[in-house]
Amino acid sequence: MHFPNFANVWTPVAFTSEFVGDGPLGVVVAATKVVIFRSGGRLAALLDRCPHRGVLLSLGRVREGCLECPFHGWRFDADGACAHVPWNPDAKRDPLGATNVPVRELGGLLWIYTRVGPDAPYEPSLPDELLRQGVRLSGQAFTWTAHWTRAVENMLDDAHLPFVHPKTIGRSPKPKRDSRMDHQVETYPWGGPGPRRSTASCRGNRPSSGGPTRCSCVSRCPASCSPSTSRLSP
Ligand code: FES
Repeated sequence: MHFPNFANVWTPVAFTSEFVGDGPLGVVVAATKVVIFRSGGRLAALLDRCPHRGVLLSLGRVREGCLECPFHGWRFDADGACAHVPWNPDAKRDPLGATNVPVRELGGLLWIYTRVGPDAPYEPSLPDELLRQGVRLSGQAFTWTAHWTRAVENMLDDAHLPFVHPKTIGRSPKPKRDSRMDHQVETYPWGGPGPRRSTASCRGNRPSSGGPTRCSCVSRCPASCSPSTSRLSP
C-alpha cells in the first residue's frame, strides 16, 4: 500500500533548490519512497523501487533522458516505461515499467500528488503571495522521530504552546482562568480536496466593555494531511 492513511493531496516534498541537475532526488512521504528526476526537461516521479529487484532507483543516475537503475542498468523514462534492458535486446519490456507518481514544480517547491498513477485529478494551486514576483522562499526542514500524524497533530494544537514553550512561541498570550480558544474552519481555494484554512483565536484579557479581547493567534492548515505553517503574534 502506498502513502498509507495519507490523504490524496498535492504536498510539497522538497525545495527546488535541493534538486541538482536532472536528479535523481529521493524523498519519503508517509513511509513511501519516491524518486524525482528530469527527463528531457520534463519533471518525473516514480516509486523509488526498481521493478526488477527492488533496488532504490534514487541511487541510480539519469542517462539519455532515462533513470537508470544502479543494479542491472534497466532504464525508465518519465512515464515509468522500461526503455532499456541491458544484455537482453529482445526483452518484452511492456510489463517491466516502474510506477509513476504525479509531480509538479511550483512556487520554488517540488510537489507530488500522494497517489500512484500517471495523473492527478486537479492541479496544485498556491496562494498569490507565494507566486508573486520577487518573493523569495525560505524554509526549514526537520526530521521528527515520530509518525507523521503526530507532526500534523502538533501543528494544529495551539493549546499546548504556553505550557510546553513558555519562553519562546508560547510566551503570549498567557491563558487566564476564563480564557477561551475557539477554532473555526474556513474553505480556502488551495491545499487539496476539501482544502481548508483554520484560524484559532485565543480570548484572554477582558476589556472594560466586558467582551473578550482577541489575541491574534493564527494557524493555517492547507489540508488535514499537508504540512502546515503556524504563526503567533501577541
Ligand atoms: S534491480 Fe534494478 S535493474 Fe535489476
